[in-house]
Amino acid sequence: MVRQVFPKRALMCNSPPKFTVRQYRFTDEQEEHERQHSKSELVVLIPEVLDPQYGMYVWPCAVVLAQYVWFHRRLVRDKRILELGAGVSLPGILAAKCGAEVTLSDNAALPQCLANCRRSCEMNNLSGVFVTGITWGQISPALLALPPVDIILASDVFFEPEDFEDVISTVHYLMEKNTHTQFWTTYQVRSADWSIQGLLLKWEMESIYVPLQSFEANKEQLAHSHLPGRHTIEMMVITKVTMPHTVTP
Ligand SMILES: C[S@@+](CC[C@H](N)C(=O)[O-])C[C@H]1O[C@@H](n2cnc3c(N)ncnc32)[C@H](O)[C@@H]1O
Repeated sequence: MVRQVFPKRALMCNSPPKFTVRQYRFTDEQEEHERQHSKSELVVLIPEVLDPQYGMYVWPCAVVLAQYVWFHRRLVRDKRILELGAGVSLPGILAAKCGAEVTLSDNAALPQCLANCRRSCEMNNLSGVFVTGITWGQISPALLALPPVDIILASDVFFEPEDFEDVISTVHYLMEKNTHTQFWTTYQVRSADWSIQGLLLKWEMESIYVPLQSFEANKEQLAHSHLPGRHTIEMMVITKVTMPHTVTP
């Protein structure tokens, strides 16, 4: 496995100078194949910052998570959804367009990132999406103010091992508010040494690995884009352990 380590500043954003709008088109494969007139299609417009230093573009993980949301679009309808580390927010915007009540969040210390979330909403005429600053690992007033959520979305938030527990602790806090919350997350395999399994055990959560082919995401190009390319992306659904593991005498 090739180990890719990104400098932290490349994963955050400063004031974005220019952006370009990309189109992500989700279609129902089977219907497309059958060339039916009433084929399901949903287009999401995402403004992406040109300078890669800002990290404000769609990452390969995002298109895979968005495909999962699209595959489960009937399930997400009317659900309360929070996206963490949303960046340009492809999965969250798609969920909102599928009828979910969505909150987008990114690092509270980076208002430019939150501006990117808002720009994605505007580009898709979504006036009802709430944008807020949630920094992983911080029990902030913004986190405390959130209502219970049904689903947490997060794509490519496990890129820096020192932050893994902060992400998990934020998810844990939200699962305390609603024990049925599901955490849907995609991550890019950058090192075989990295794992969150120990942290899930510590924070009393369990994960189910979701094979990409089960939601038609085992492709190099999704949503009529060039992503995810040849990156190794994996998908997990994480939930709270309802019966904590006990040691029997
Ligand atoms: C690799 S980018 C992924 C962006 C987007 N989810 C995607 O997949 O396209 C990581 C995102 O996490 C955000 N982030 C980094 N550190 C954070 C922190 N401590 N708290 C909250 N968000 C953070 C960054 O601002 C950035 O938007």
